[in-house]
Amino acid sequence: MWDSHCHLNLIDLQPYGGRVEAVIEQARQAGVVGMICIGVDLASQDAVMALAHTHEEVYASVGVHPCHLAGSLPERERLLHYAQQPRVVAIGETGLDYHHEPEAADLQRQSLLLHIELAKQLDKPLVIHTRQARADTLALLRQAGERAGVMHCFTEDWETAKAALDLGFYISFSGIVSFKNAEDLREVARRVPDDRLLIETDSPWLAPVPHRGKSNCPAWVADVARCVAEVRKVPLDTLIETTSANTRRLFRLP
Ligand code: NI
Repeated sequence: MWDSHCHLNLIDLQPYGGRVEAVIEQARQAGVVGMICIGVDLASQDAVMALAHTHEEVYASVGVHPCHLAGSLPERERLLHYAQQPRVVAIGETGLDYHHEPEAADLQRQSLLLHIELAKQLDKPLVIHTRQARADTLALLRQAGERAGVMHCFTEDWETAKAALDLGFYISFSGIVSFKNAEDLREVARRVPDDRLLIETDSPWLAPVPHRGKSNCPAWVADVARCVAEVRKVPLDTLIETTSANTRRLFRLP
């Protein structure tokens, strides 16, 4: 299976003897064949690129998270410089987060538009983060007439999922779908069409049940897979096959 969204460069390596190879090996043993290491800011983009360039299983995305803008619009030339490198399969994560940074809403919208423009120019899918900003996120994506991407770590309602699906987007579920109080989200996970469903860890955050409270890792995408398979009442193998094919199609992976 694939972990379609992790932050491998941000995982605390202390429990792994300081070796990222140990994190990747643990994932491999859990059945993970590939992972996409998602960029969150330009300062850490070199680390993301290094992981993708030195590990066969790891691909990269390039972007600045809406909560990592630090008061200014990312430099277009620097984003472009990274985004054109080999092993980069997506633009993001980008998006809007009015929950954590409502005061930066205007800057976030400008940054999202910049990422959309870059994704169009390079013909790469977008990785979208949205939190308490569903209407604006959808409006900008709609106005931009953007090609497909993924609504990552989806936590919104079915209406929002439907609107994103209508725009051509995929919907990705993280460990949140396994949380005890996430009954509504599991209902959304049940309804997403087979050919638009992705799974992810968003590690090191959001460890799924039964690892809640611990530092998350790509291996535990297996727990997300188990939960989503159960919710959709399909065999685990089928769920893995479907989401792997979707990940490969969206990010044009081998
Ligand atoms: Ni993320």
